[in-house]
Amino acid sequence: MTTVIPATQAAQEAAAAVRARLGPLWASPSGPDTPRVAIILGSGLGDFADTLSDSRLIPYDEIPHYPQPAVPGHAGQLVYGRAGDLPVMAARGRIHYYEGHSLETVAFPIHLFARLGVQTLIITNAAGCINADWNVGDLMLITGHLDYTFLGGPDDPATVLGEPHHSQRLLDLARRAAREGGIPVREGVYAWTLGPSYETPAEIRHMRSLGAAAVGMSTVPEIRAATDEGLEVLAISCLTNYAAGIQDRPLSHDEVLETGQRVKGTFARLVRGVLDQLQPKENTV
Ligand code: HPA
Repeated sequence: MTTVIPATQAAQEAAAAVRARLGPLWASPSGPDTPRVAIILGSGLGDFADTLSDSRLIPYDEIPHYPQPAVPGHAGQLVYGRAGDLPVMAARGRIHYYEGHSLETVAFPIHLFARLGVQTLIITNAAGCINADWNVGDLMLITGHLDYTFLGGPDDPATVLGEPHHSQRLLDLARRAAREGGIPVREGVYAWTLGPSYETPAEIRHMRSLGAAAVGMSTVPEIRAATDEGLEVLAISCLTNYAAGIQDRPLSHDEVLETGQRVKGTFARLVRGVLDQLQPKENTV
């Protein structure tokens, strides 16, 4: 596909189409039905969209310019619904760089969300666990990230901590949701790789020496785009497997999916606990 219009204009056109689909629900762009919060549902958390009430589904292929996931049978949908009184937009089905998309295309959903009025973004993902003292199935609040793609050159990547990429306010809400929900959470730095192959044990040792606790193939391009758009971001990993070299057996995508299935209920409770603290205040728009 050749896109001849700028990405911002494409996102604007996509936003107009989404608004038109949801029109009767969503009379004015600044009204109470405008979603202020969006969630990207990573592997294993897709079912979270089913917990939203009054939901409306829009397949990605019915939204102009929206990139299509390359994996057959995983068409992907935007889901608009409510968590309590809070209008939420969820992206079920993610676009990855390793599927052949550009980084600009991977970030398209974020630019769309921003044009729909979203101010807060929650990103979820499945990731490999680099810390051998932690357990598979643990949830990790991402407090920082490092770009292990080497797209920018051969030097060791710097760790990016805190604002504006990682909202301290949202991290505090997540800590509180975890505490009040009795959900144990870890905190650490996420290392981003391009994929699609898993890492080597030597790469994992190197990432660990740089301070990373988790590794995955998504999220950082989305965090960057969200920061550029002025959105407040919270990112959470489900540690679905030990990273390469920690255990004496090969990694498997099946393990990633199985762990995701096992902890999806807890993951959903944590996300819901954050959303519950973002509920609209009475009498405010
Ligand atoms: N490495 C990279 N990406 C991943 C992993 C991993 O071990 N697990 C889930 N996504």
